Amino acid sequence: MAQITGKIIGLGSYLPPKVLSNDDLSKMVETNDEWITERTGIKRRHIADGIEDKSSTMAIKAAKAAVEDAGIDPKDIELIVAASTTPDLLFPSMAVCVQKALGCSENVGCFDVNSACPGWIAAFNTVQGFIESGNVKLALVVGTETLSNFVDWNDRGTCILFGDGAGAAVLRAEEGKKNEFIMRSSGNRGDCLRCENRKQPQRYDEEGFEQSTYFYMAGRDVFRFAITEVPKLIKDLAAKYNFSLDEIDYFILHQANARIIEATAKKLNIDIEKFPMTLQETGNTSSASIPSLLSTMKKDGRLKKGMKLVLASFGGGLTWDANYIEY
Ligand code: ACO
Repeated sequence: MAQITGKIIGLGSYLPPKVLSNDDLSKMVETNDEWITERTGIKRRHIADGIEDKSSTMAIKAAKAAVEDAGIDPKDIELIVAASTTPDLLFPSMAVCVQKALGCSENVGCFDVNSACPGWIAAFNTVQGFIESGNVKLALVVGTETLSNFVDWNDRGTCILFGDGAGAAVLRAEEGKKNEFIMRSSGNRGDCLRCENRKQPQRYDEEGFEQSTYFYMAGRDVFRFAITEVPKLIKDLAAKYNFSLDEIDYFILHQANARIIEATAKKLNIDIEKFPMTLQETGNTSSASIPSLLSTMKKDGRLKKGMKLVLASFGGGLTWDANYIEY
């Protein structure tokens, strides 16, 4: 029997114009291009100015590009879900900002999700649930982040890793293979990635409070977590849904660190050519990284209809998710 799923029919991404290179960073903290490149693969990242470009406005720009790419009328969109761990507004949601800017009708559900870096995958799975159950036919899934507002620019262990940006996809109900996925979390292991909300006036005098409102990361623990759990998750995904990893055209991994992606490819015994990367140019853009990579691959012609893709992400929570989809 034919199944209905959400097919990605449009992709868009946005990076703010200001570029911060590794050499620029070496003037701010004690680091250098060679160290950053060797340990992470990152060469430069884009930084939002906080006026023209913030999480909400970048979400709008990426969403507009995705809608244009899909060639749809925004008035036909029935659901918008945005993922962001760094929204500039607590409310309205980023999704509602997109609804307003795109001139969508009022007949559209809008909400945000926060699952740190895998947030876009969480949003994608949520939207697929609405589409596959027959509830909506056309939806927008956005990931948008300004982590530059939350990193400590004096901490060379974290400030070198992150960049700002947004990515979006339009999903339309069509016949095809269902979205197959696994989502995992470990609150017990979550302390290695943390950032507290700055707006807690009762705690302003508490020792260490201010520092806890910057991005904290125990780099080695996160590295170990990622190279252990991500390959295992992808193998479990293949076993659960009975497919062979050799059939997969591309593995679209969260763009955090080239060494994590290389270690994953090695553990799965898959050619690194099947693991495309944009992190050299963007740094880690958290929930924007996967839709932005897909958008880049569509623009440069690598992504073709019918391709089999594994998407996988990991981050704060800890959370880690993977999907098997047909593009
Ligand atoms: N430049 C130069 N030296 C540095 C820098 C820097 N930017 N940062 C750290 N160092 C120094 C350290 O001080 C340390 O010096 P010491 O030996 O004198 O004490 C030395 O380099 C080694 O430091 P480590 O932190 O052990 O370096 P490591 O090899 O682990 O690399 C890194 C650090 C790149 C952060 C690595 O741990 C990593 O990639 N972790 C995963 C990070 C990640 O991907 N996080 C994001 C996932 S979650 C999300 O997406 C939100």
